[in-house]
Amino acid sequence: MCGIVGYVGGQQAAPLLVEALTRLEHRGYDSAGVAVVGSRLQVTKRAGRVRDLAAALPKRMAGRIGIGHTRWATHGPANDANAHPHTDATGTVAVVHNGIVDNAAALRQRLTDQGVALASDTDSEVFAHLIALSDADTLEGKVVDALASIEGTYGLAVLHAGFPDRIVVARNGSPLLVGVGEKEMFVASDLAALVRHTTTVAHLEDGELATVTASGFRTFRRDLTRTETQARQVDVDPSAYEHGAGDGRPRMYTEILEQPESVDRTLRGRLDERFGTAHLGGLDLDARELRAIRRVKILGCGSAYYVGQMGALLVEELARIPADAEAASEFRYRNPIIEPDTLYVAVSQSGETIDTLLAVEEIKRKGGRVIGLVNVVGSAVARACDGGIYLHAGPEIAVASTKALTTMYVGFALLALQLGRVRDLSVADGKRLVAGLQKLPAQIGQVLATEDRIAELAATLARSESMFFVGRVRGFPVAREGAQKFKEISYRHAEAYQMSELKHGPLALISPDVPTVAIVPDDELTDRNVAALHEIAARGGPLVVVTHAGVDLGALEVERIDVPKNETELDPLLLTVPLQLLAYHAALVLGHDVDKPRNLAKSVTVE
Ligand code: F6R
Repeated sequence: MCGIVGYVGGQQAAPLLVEALTRLEHRGYDSAGVAVVGSRLQVTKRAGRVRDLAAALPKRMAGRIGIGHTRWATHGPANDANAHPHTDATGTVAVVHNGIVDNAAALRQRLTDQGVALASDTDSEVFAHLIALSDADTLEGKVVDALASIEGTYGLAVLHAGFPDRIVVARNGSPLLVGVGEKEMFVASDLAALVRHTTTVAHLEDGELATVTASGFRTFRRDLTRTETQARQVDVDPSAYEHGAGDGRPRMYTEILEQPESVDRTLRGRLDERFGTAHLGGLDLDARELRAIRRVKILGCGSAYYVGQMGALLVEELARIPADAEAASEFRYRNPIIEPDTLYVAVSQSGETIDTLLAVEEIKRKGGRVIGLVNVVGSAVARACDGGIYLHAGPEIAVASTKALTTMYVGFALLALQLGRVRDLSVADGKRLVAGLQKLPAQIGQVLATEDRIAELAATLARSESMFFVGRVRGFPVAREGAQKFKEISYRHAEAYQMSELKHGPLALISPDVPTVAIVPDDELTDRNVAALHEIAARGGPLVVVTHAGVDLGALEVERIDVPKNETELDPLLLTVPLQLLAYHAALVLGHDVDKPRNLAKSVTVE
């Protein structure tokens, strides 16, 4: 949420920063800006996309040091004044900020009382004035002085015309990386902005600051004592961070199509055909410790929470351990009881979602054991956990999560299998599930091959203002994820409901104008689900049924999408994939910017 970049070196900073911002646009896209220091401090910022900023950039914006920002609004609407960088009244200090200043109202009042004229409605602007008002001799000292007044979270980069050789950055709760180049250095909130220039990066810790000059960086704490954070080579393929397929298709589409390969990567080297189990070295738990687990509690936000619900069912079915999933954003606010024999699992693509991270920290504070299912290597959640499973989905850049979700599902299946095989799951069942998992990449390919049919149905659904997504037990989190994907990129009202609960209220809304997308797998619950379809049809509700070829829907008039059958426990993954395409094509038909849905941004790093 919000993207930060910074550069100091031999090149002109402004064009380089703007290019880097285009790679961070998924982090926020309501306004953007850059500041550079040449003969003086110059700032250009605009409401709108990075392309609007690029068009507004003056020809003579010279300077070999600068900072940039792409914004997702928290305080104040998206307009030029609220765009970052923010400056002090004399135009000496410029700051870009990601996070929330909790005591912003009090600080704004204090500054106003001191005669400072505030230029924006934002919380972030206070940093610029507080830094300018400090009488410390060094920029580091001024920033530390300012931070002493701040309550809240920040990833911060500061530029000062009086210290034109350096950027000072600070981290507390919002990610910040320093990238090391050849006689040039970079700053960013996200690896995506750096990989074109360098893959040697240092992750700042919370409470840490850094001074970044063209020749290197040094890290320190708020008391100005040195810390030892080092830069490391990260093992990533820079081309995987390119937006879109280069053919104008949205990034979300390429990420949907990548799923056979990404799921294959999650599985690679982790399946044991001989003993019908999984090996997850990163868990750092031996068989005795795995057997001692009495409960599994899964925590994530949004789609990660929904796949957590799918994961909880897998754990219960395969390992017979009581398991449930909860939104991390709720869990952390309710003084949860932390049990020593519960395995807590934090699930997050970015590994930076603040609610998930704070839930992990709360569990650890109370002595709980927590593992991560995380995609981004070295991210805050991954570092905070006691061990975990990296997803290897590759970079996910589209705001709407697709390939991360399916790899999370596979991560849960591997975990459930390993937990099951040190308990009651038989070797025969283990082998059956291993074979099922091995089939998934090809079967996802088969679902993707039905895209044309799904696109036709999407065009019909897109005409409805409101619709239901329904499922039962394994099908319910699938329905939740389907509704989530549909609403976030098509802006249609899509409500998920348990098929079993329809009679208890929502049937009142069923009519020829309100279609239902129903998840009806071929399993022990098919008959109950088909009965519910009859109840919807009897009230004139149009039906799209995501199902298996073996399911007989009799005389019901429905549109059906058949997905390949796998082992019953693993069905949710293949039932989810067509719902991604359904949402994608509905958004396309409606003419929306699929990769940048309104009001949303990738990685929710603010509370
Ligand atoms: C939905 C979506 C979000 C994320 C959620 C958690 O398509 O992308 O709901 O799933 O914000 O993000 P991570 O997984 O990065 O913690």
